[in-house]
Amino acid sequence: MAGIRLQPEDPDASQARPPASSDLISDDDRSVAADSWSIKSDYGSTLDDEQRHADASEALSVANFRAASDYSSDKEEPDAEAVQSMLGFQSYWDAQYADELTNFREHGHAGEVWFGADVMEVVASWTKSLCGEFSQGHLSNHVDDSNCESVGQLEKEPFNWSVLDIGTGNGLLLQELAKQGFSDLTGTDYSEGAIDLARSLAHRDGFTNIKFLVDDILETKLDRKFQLLVDKGTLDAIGLHPDGPVKRIMYWDSVSSLVAPGGLLVITSCNSTKDELVQEVDAFNQRRNSPSQELGASGDQEVNRDPPLFRYVDHVRSYPTFMFGGSVGSRVATVAFQRN
Ligand SMILES: C[S@@+](CC[C@H](N)C(=O)[O-])C[C@H]1O[C@@H](n2cnc3c(N)ncnc32)[C@H](O)[C@@H]1O
Repeated sequence: MAGIRLQPEDPDASQARPPASSDLISDDDRSVAADSWSIKSDYGSTLDDEQRHADASEALSVANFRAASDYSSDKEEPDAEAVQSMLGFQSYWDAQYADELTNFREHGHAGEVWFGADVMEVVASWTKSLCGEFSQGHLSNHVDDSNCESVGQLEKEPFNWSVLDIGTGNGLLLQELAKQGFSDLTGTDYSEGAIDLARSLAHRDGFTNIKFLVDDILETKLDRKFQLLVDKGTLDAIGLHPDGPVKRIMYWDSVSSLVAPGGLLVITSCNSTKDELVQEVDAFNQRRNSPSQELGASGDQEVNRDPPLFRYVDHVRSYPTFMFGGSVGSRVATVAFQRN
């Protein structure tokens, strides 16, 4: 994966710019960014973060991917891939949102709409329809019977569903979901500047009921579950960190603790196709039943396999497609998964 392949829509040419070489992060910035991944003892995670990182690394090596250390390079001249990988660092986003906040205060600009306004509107309206189908029982609910107590927690009325937008940026997707009728809306981002901007925009635009807070999805402090999680471009950004493969594993561990049983996760990506996201979820489900866990847990006793935690539900089919190398693809994928 080379990097985020689609540039954000450009509401203001002065804001949208590819990272210039002068913007490149220094080694100091890298270590500051790396520090931001380290353990924060006040975080409510039940699993020690260093242990989670180690577990994720181990899972990666078992899966025969490149080792995490292969992804960190100290090349003097950053190549295009290295430039793009800046989007995996918090220091990049902090600088980006500092600029956007200045632009907002001086000119009232909302900032970048990742993947464009059209995609954002499609994501919001498609998600609303999907939640409606689930609420009305039109889509089969494959949640394990043993979770029946939790299944009942899914509101019959989708507009009452609790919604969390992870890596919310300027929070405009939440505004779009509010326009669709959702009312219990929360946005998180690890960049304080993003949350300041999202709050300012929501206040200006009259969406004062949307809640925003600073939170790193990989070390989340949130101790509640949501019926709908949306992610537009955040997994993409996380995957661009030099240790992206490890961080993607941590991402799946975190989101699985945040989606209520029976709830939905809707991911919009320009770096992964629908099939790649489905494969990533399959790999996550399999890891949960990996042989090493089974041995550790039960020795030579018979192993009880957990049902898959996430299952593919549907994806947006209306994005424009193109042919490349004999295959049909689209530049953006929006895929929904249901948590067991
Ligand atoms: C490509 S932008 C998308 C922003 C927004 N979702 C949108 O569609 O406009 C990626 C966002 O993810 C945030 N982000 C990246 N890694 C994160 C993490 N570990 N925890 C929380 N937010 C993160 C960045 O600060 C940035 O706002």
